[in-house]
Amino acid sequence: MKAEGLKRASTPASLRRQVREWRAAGERIALVPTMGALHAGHIALVRAARRRASRVMVSIFVNPTQFGPNEDLSRYPRTLADDLAKLRAARADLVYLPAVADIYPEGFSTSVTVAGPALGLETDFRPTHFAGVATVVAKLLVQAAPDLAFFGEKDYQQLKVVTRMSRDLDLPVNIVGVPTVREPDGLALSSRNVYLSVDDRRTAPALYRALTEAASAIAGGEAVESAVGRARTLVTQAGFVLDYLEACHAETLAPIASASEGPVRLLVAARIGSTRLIDNVGVPAR
Ligand code: PAF
Repeated sequence: MKAEGLKRASTPASLRRQVREWRAAGERIALVPTMGALHAGHIALVRAARRRASRVMVSIFVNPTQFGPNEDLSRYPRTLADDLAKLRAARADLVYLPAVADIYPEGFSTSVTVAGPALGLETDFRPTHFAGVATVVAKLLVQAAPDLAFFGEKDYQQLKVVTRMSRDLDLPVNIVGVPTVREPDGLALSSRNVYLSVDDRRTAPALYRALTEAASAIAGGEAVESAVGRARTLVTQAGFVLDYLEACHAETLAPIASASEGPVRLLVAARIGSTRLIDNVGVPAR
């Protein structure tokens, strides 16, 4: 296949035209949905997509409906020129840059209601978040009609919500999760890490340390409750305000009291300064 550089589509119609052309040529097409402010975690998604598809599209759309009224929509980092350079370097084939009206046309009044893995955790603190995510992802999947769509495990609950939604709605796409990319000290890469002050950045890896310590204690036979309790203490002692740190079934995200109840995932959300960080790790099977 000849390298053609990074194409741009700004409307659903131009996106569809390109996808139709590729499909007619027998290409296997992947979509990486993003909100921009791309970092190495997003580029890992593009690379994973490259390995599984012959054409890789990346959407950049800061989706207003997944932000709560007091969240960071207006200050969410927007770095388009830099994002485009990174996508060119990663050899993405197309960037989709819809306008708000392409996603939410005048009079928009339909949204996807999610339950199952959407219940609890983030939803306890951001009650409208996953309806916004599910709605925009459903729209992007319908507009782009990819064979595969790639999501980071960093947003683990999001990955499970999108996977459930695509099964429940029979969306003809394979949802693929990609492992979290971390800084050398363990901090998960996130577009929101730019908000961290120097001191908060120094403290931030405590989240991952607490999770990994609890995960290996549970894998070693310690009761879930005591390992999780210690992790909560570590996180708060480090200086975070904890929203949640829970042990859940890795697929359904139902709360889990014992490692025997299934594959376990530990998920955390905590605030430091003005920044809210989320992270998660799997508990290795015994
Ligand atoms: O993970 C994100 O960046 C967003 O939640 C997504 C999936 C692009 C939907 O807006």
